[in-house]
Amino acid sequence: MSDSLQDRIEEAIRNPKNMGEMESADSFGTAGSPGCGDMMRMWLKFKDGANGEKIIEKASFQAFGCETAIAVASVATDLLAGKTVDQALSMKGSDLAAPLGALPPMKIHCATLVEEALRYALEGTHALEKAEAPVVSGLVETLSEEKRQPGKAKIVLMPRNS
Ligand code: FES
Repeated sequence: MSDSLQDRIEEAIRNPKNMGEMESADSFGTAGSPGCGDMMRMWLKFKDGANGEKIIEKASFQAFGCETAIAVASVATDLLAGKTVDQALSMKGSDLAAPLGALPPMKIHCATLVEEALRYALEGTHALEKAEAPVVSGLVETLSEEKRQPGKAKIVLMPRNS
């Protein structure tokens, strides 16, 4: 493992985990950061626990965002597997980013973006239904369009099935 926060972020975005739309998802949440305009969508698949509680089986994400947001989403989706809904709801951005280490104040909102996408997905306010497919496509198109715009310093990760 690398020493500095920047090294850990670069390591995470070099090989991001759980990236892309999850076709078998039970729910998803989308969040946007009003300050920087970045977007994050997280998909969740649940399974039943031994006591009947809902457990996150797997999580994935798609992002139009900065390196930090993508790195946090990558480590967070790994962290979330096996968590109950209550455990996941109690996680703040700093918990989700913990494998990277403490973020500087100017980057805390990047982890908050991931937290908000997770929260929306957990609250089921964006239950995945066929009728919502155009929304997903719209986000993909938005990401593609942003990628084509020169001068954008953002990193765009295109979806893939997971
Ligand atoms: Fe927008 Fe990081 S700068 S999420």
